[in-house]
Amino acid sequence: MAPLKLTVIGTGYLGATHAAAMAELGFEVLGLDVVPEKIELLSQGRVPMYEPGLEELLRKHVAGIEGSTGRLRFTLDWAEAAEFGDVHFVCVNTPQKRGEYACDMSYVDSAMESLARHLRRPCLVVGKSTVPVGSAERLAARIVELAPAGDAVELAWNPEFLREGFAVQDTLHPDRIVVGVAGPTGEKLLREVYAGPLGAGTPLVVTDFPTAELVKTSANSFLATKISFINAMAEVCEAGGGDVVRLAEAIGYDERIGSKFLRAGIGFGGGCLPKDIRAFMARAGELGADQALTFLREIDSINMRRRGQMVEMAREALGGRSFLGTRVAVLGAAFKPDSDDVRDSPALNVAGQIHLQGGQVTVYDPKGMDNARRLFPTLVYADSAVEAVRGADVVLHLTEWREFRELDPAELGAVAARRVVLDGRNALDPAVWRAAGWTYRAMGRPTA
Ligand code: UDX
Repeated sequence: MAPLKLTVIGTGYLGATHAAAMAELGFEVLGLDVVPEKIELLSQGRVPMYEPGLEELLRKHVAGIEGSTGRLRFTLDWAEAAEFGDVHFVCVNTPQKRGEYACDMSYVDSAMESLARHLRRPCLVVGKSTVPVGSAERLAARIVELAPAGDAVELAWNPEFLREGFAVQDTLHPDRIVVGVAGPTGEKLLREVYAGPLGAGTPLVVTDFPTAELVKTSANSFLATKISFINAMAEVCEAGGGDVVRLAEAIGYDERIGSKFLRAGIGFGGGCLPKDIRAFMARAGELGADQALTFLREIDSINMRRRGQMVEMAREALGGRSFLGTRVAVLGAAFKPDSDDVRDSPALNVAGQIHLQGGQVTVYDPKGMDNARRLFPTLVYADSAVEAVRGADVVLHLTEWREFRELDPAELGAVAARRVVLDGRNALDPAVWRAAGWTYRAMGRPTA
């Protein structure tokens, strides 16, 4: 039996990683996107974002690159992609609708429709995007209606759980594989595609469409809940005295709770958690189940509150007055370390608020500067942490890059106007900073 050929529709963050990972698993892969610049870049083994290990993997497989396996190619041509693939992975994004909480399905709908119109032989279409429950059933009917091959085209839903910064590792070695199916071939073909990870012991959950769709949104809701829970505990620690870092450590030893995702700080951001919980609430509302998810509104509100609390902490550290005439160094712009993504970044939000209140804000981030400059062109950007801190009245540590943990507080102390550091991620070592003469303050921890 000939090995399966795979296409990946949409070569953004998720699609580019999936395509490269599938080539790594040994498949011939054709990636399709509607943006010519993306296809050009990917065909040279390059990506328009920072993701550790992804360019290396692309260069290992993209056809035409010296020494590559040649298993991975890219195209703009729907007919070519439809003809090529036995399994088509649809990896386009589902952003938040403008001015609404609901999920914008227009990219998924249009990708599925454009593909379906060219499907002339039996094949499997696999949705990987995060979508509102009910989408797969609707799309399955639409594909059969549009495809020349009719009901010989089957749909499956296979949500993706990758984290930015760990995208390659998460795709090649997932915690679990979830497959929502409604026909005879979905499970069989996806078992073949994922034979590698399954052989290595990755659990497989085969279920129906709605459950597969809900697994993704409920997993992200749970993660968001964990973060907001610990941030709520940080608020209580601040009010009542207590150390949220030790508290998290202590409750995390209980295996039922677990120690991960209990880092208190300025909260979650990025292109997934915030918009996913909002879209989930919106969908539950449409289904008449909004009461079940009202707690997510509180999760969202605890999270958004953290940013304002960080601004207030900075104001207090500057003597409690206005930010006018003050210099504020912000270390971090990306929504999390090992990523250049600044979408809904808590760090940039805090920097922007202080700037709007008259503070002179200088930002430095190891990888997120270009994206930050595009989003917030009015902030000042420095080329290094030391340059950002030069002359600063207060230093805000807002994205926990390793580079910041390894900074020498004595060196920074020599250039800062005042030695005050506020750790918005609870990631610096207070003892080291205090030993170098800094006033160190963190969220949910005693001032010492
Ligand atoms: C998330 C999910 O983890 C992933 O499974 C899903 O596929 C997409 O959404 P990602 O957005 O890449 O992935 O980032 P993640 O590592 O989950 O972090 C999200 C945000 O939470 C970041 O802003 C991070 O700084 C913050 N966070 C995380 C905390 O504030 N505290 C923590 O303990 C953990």
